Amino acid sequence: MVQLTLPKNSKIKKGKVWPAPTTANGKKPKRTKDFRVYRYNPDEDANPRVDTYRIDLDDCGPMVLDALIKIKNEIDPTLTFRRSCREGVCGSCAMNIGGMNTLACTKAISDISGSANIYPLPHMSVVKDLVPDMNNFYAQYAAIQPYLQTKSATPEKEHLQSPKDRSKLDGLYECILCACCSTSCPSYWWNPERYLGPAALLQSYRWLADSRDEATGERLDNLEDPFRLYRCHTIMNCANTCPKGLNPAEAIGEIKQMMVKRGV
Ligand code: SF4
Ligand code: SF4
Ligand code: FES
Repeated sequence: MVQLTLPKNSKIKKGKVWPAPTTANGKKPKRTKDFRVYRYNPDEDANPRVDTYRIDLDDCGPMVLDALIKIKNEIDPTLTFRRSCREGVCGSCAMNIGGMNTLACTKAISDISGSANIYPLPHMSVVKDLVPDMNNFYAQYAAIQPYLQTKSATPEKEHLQSPKDRSKLDGLYECILCACCSTSCPSYWWNPERYLGPAALLQSYRWLADSRDEATGERLDNLEDPFRLYRCHTIMNCANTCPKGLNPAEAIGEIKQMMVKRGV
C-alpha cells in the first residue's frame, strides 16, 4: 500500500490570541468579531498557525479588507497580504474567506456569521501569510498568448468590430485574473502544471471569440492536449466562486465545441 507522508510543516498550529480591543474611553466595545487568520513565515522554522484578532466593528470599515488593514496598521504590522484597488478591479486581494475563494475588498464582514476564517488561496505555495505564489498561474496566462494576433495587412487606423461581435466578449473581458476560480478547481489542484485551469482557459476563449483575431487555428492547436484543456470535468466550482460573476466552465465548453467543429 502507498504510504503518504505529509511534510513536517503541513500541520497548522493554534496561534496567538491578540488582546481584545477597548474603545477610546477605555470601555469594552459593543460589537466585536474574531478574525482567525492563517500565518506562515518561511524565514521562521515553525509550522503555520492561525492567529485570532478581535476587532471592534464600530471602529472598522465594512469589508474584510478593511479589517485586515486595521489589523496591520493598529495591531500586528507583520501580517502580510496583497491589495491595491480596494474595489474589485485589480484581483490582488483574492483569498479564502469562510471557506470560499473571493476578494477581501468586496466581501462584506456582515455577510460572515461567527468568526471570520481567513486563509490564502488553496493549493498554492504560500510566500508569506495570505500571499500565494502566482508564478505558475501567470506563466499559464502567458502561454495562451493573451493578445490580438492578425495575419492580414494592418489597417491604417484601428481594427474595426461590429457591436454584435463586440458583445461576444461580454462575460469574458471582465476577468481580473484573481485566480479564485483556478484555485477552487479540483482538476487544477491535481494537475496545476499541466491543466491550464479555468482562468487561463476563459482568457483563451476571450481571444478565440474575438472577431478581429486571426490565430484561431494556432490557438486551438495549442490547447489540443489531454491535459491543457480536457481536464475540465464540469464540476462548476469555478463559476460558483468567481467574484465577478463569470462562468469559466461555459467558456471551456465553448472551446471544446470549437475543437469538435473543426474536426480534430
Ligand atoms: S474568471 Fe473570475 S475567478 Fe477566475 S480569474 Fe477571472 S475574475 Fe477571477
Ligand atoms: S468546471 Fe472545469 S474548470 Fe470549472 S471547476 Fe470544474 S473542472 Fe475546474
Ligand atoms: S484590492 Fe483590488 S480586487 Fe481587492
